[in-house]
Amino acid sequence: MTRPQTGMRQIDQRLIDQRQIDQREFRAVCGSFVTGVTVVTASSASGSHGSTVNSFTSLSTEPPQVVVCLARNTQTLRHVRASGRFAVNILAAGQTDVARIFASKSPDKLGQVGWHVAENGAPLLDGAVSTLECDVATMQEEATHMLVIGRVTAVRHDQDAAPLVFFRSTISAGDSLQHGVG
Ligand SMILES: Cc1cc2nc3c(=O)[nH]c(=O)nc-3n(C[C@H](O)[C@H](O)[C@H](O)COP(=O)(O)O)c2cc1C
Repeated sequence: MTRPQTGMRQIDQRLIDQRQIDQREFRAVCGSFVTGVTVVTASSASGSHGSTVNSFTSLSTEPPQVVVCLARNTQTLRHVRASGRFAVNILAAGQTDVARIFASKSPDKLGQVGWHVAENGAPLLDGAVSTLECDVATMQEEATHMLVIGRVTAVRHDQDAAPLVFFRSTISAGDSLQHGVG
């Protein structure tokens, strides 16, 4: 009898495992990882826009790069793609309303908050803990989302501000998270 190749066995096992993972449980497990809350903004010829995003992380220091994952059907991705630039606004403890506004499908979210134009043309939100201006380095399509890798061109930081945090589907103020351990 011919034995199946090891590579084939691994692929089959992966497919079986995928089918066994319940979507709700998968979301719950991912939601048990605490993140901050950002608003990714961009301006293109058709206007300025933004979306609440928690799939943000730093990628490398040299060169300074970050990643955000944007659903392919978001308006924000359209503006990021068209302009090749974006900004990441890391929200502060008092900005729950801002997170809600930018999680909506309102056509004029920026009309509901204070902001100014960054050097790279993307909107920077008033009151954010930190902001990063980025040029799109690469984009990679993965299922429903686009991984957007941004090369950081400018940063601003308010060292004393507490962040907004997201945990188990709840946005709350991370008042005790102002200072690190190191
Ligand atoms: C806390 C939180 C985090 C979110 N993170 C993401 C994310 O990482 N990527 C994404 O595509 N959408 C994310 N969303 C959903 C978008 O904010 C939402 O789909 C928004 O309406 C998209 O707006 P747009 O289509 O106007 O760009 C998140 C929503 C919330 C409340």
